Amino acid sequence: VRALRVGLIGLGHVGLGTYRVLLRNQAAIAARAGRPIVITQVAVRDRQRAAALLAPQVRLVEVEALLRDPDIDVVVEAVGGTTLARDWVLQAIAQGKSVVTANKALLAQHGDELFAAAAARGVSVAFEGAVAVSIPIIKALRESLSANRIDWVAGIINGTSNFILSEMRDKGLGFDAVLQEAQRLGYAEADPSFDVDGIDAAHKLSLLSALAFGTPLQFDQITVQGIRDLQAQDVGLAEALGYRIKLLGVAQRLGTDEASPVSLRVQPVLLPRRHPLASVEGAMNGILVHGDASGQSLFCGAGAGGEPTGAAVIADLVDLARQPVGPAAALRVPHQAFHAQALRALP
Ligand code: HSE
Repeated sequence: VRALRVGLIGLGHVGLGTYRVLLRNQAAIAARAGRPIVITQVAVRDRQRAAALLAPQVRLVEVEALLRDPDIDVVVEAVGGTTLARDWVLQAIAQGKSVVTANKALLAQHGDELFAAAAARGVSVAFEGAVAVSIPIIKALRESLSANRIDWVAGIINGTSNFILSEMRDKGLGFDAVLQEAQRLGYAEADPSFDVDGIDAAHKLSLLSALAFGTPLQFDQITVQGIRDLQAQDVGLAEALGYRIKLLGVAQRLGTDEASPVSLRVQPVLLPRRHPLASVEGAMNGILVHGDASGQSLFCGAGAGGEPTGAAVIADLVDLARQPVGPAAALRVPHQAFHAQALRALP
């Protein structure tokens, strides 16, 4: 059987995590996917560093060459940011390649455009790693819970801020010291204000909401407040009163029919200590979903980190490996186009 050949752009925490997990578990992954999945080419700025980290058979190439190479079936975008990443994802799609990305900022801002381009070309943009990395929440909303009318989704969906709040409470450390530790551990965004000001959580909430309610992405309509102004004293006081401060993203349909507007908020809230999300600590994420048929479902798992994100990226590669790849193949596999269309507006 022919391996799924992957071109990886970027070798930061996510790119390297993907490469390492794929290498370490390659036999089990191939067994599950039905064929090997191999990163054959990597495009990075710092080739010297990359050469020291990668096996010699991985080719270090220019991004443009990787995107044009017919030998590459799928592109993993792990470069971050929204400008170059958008151009490169569009180029990959134009070349008939499916894309896997964990870049929630990119999708929150340009997702509608990227999904439409992918659907038109018969390829997929897959993004399980973009929200609450170790929680299969994209698949859950799209597949497992798809029979439900979703009423609301509420979650701790930024690992860095949850880690900061937990450490401030448990160790009495100041905000800045804990943030530095989160950066060292690879949890924080390149610009950590995205984490502490609630922007990263808002990016993810926009994706969850679009999937849950079948709307276009509504990042600009989210009311956002972060945790920057909280002091160790606030965290301690909440605790003394029987509460825990958590940064929550909440998407709620304001009414029972499909056309009802959706309320979208990211803000620190006081949760009673016995609330199921109150015990989600450190860089963990927790998400509660309420569906009319299934009732309340609680999901919990690692929310950040190179290898957890890499594992989610690989899960999308496994999905793609199970399908024939490329535009001609996609035309024969209707549900491949469905993947790309699941986020488009309902008429
Ligand atoms: N900075 C993000 C977080 C990484 O802390 O949750 C995972 O999306």
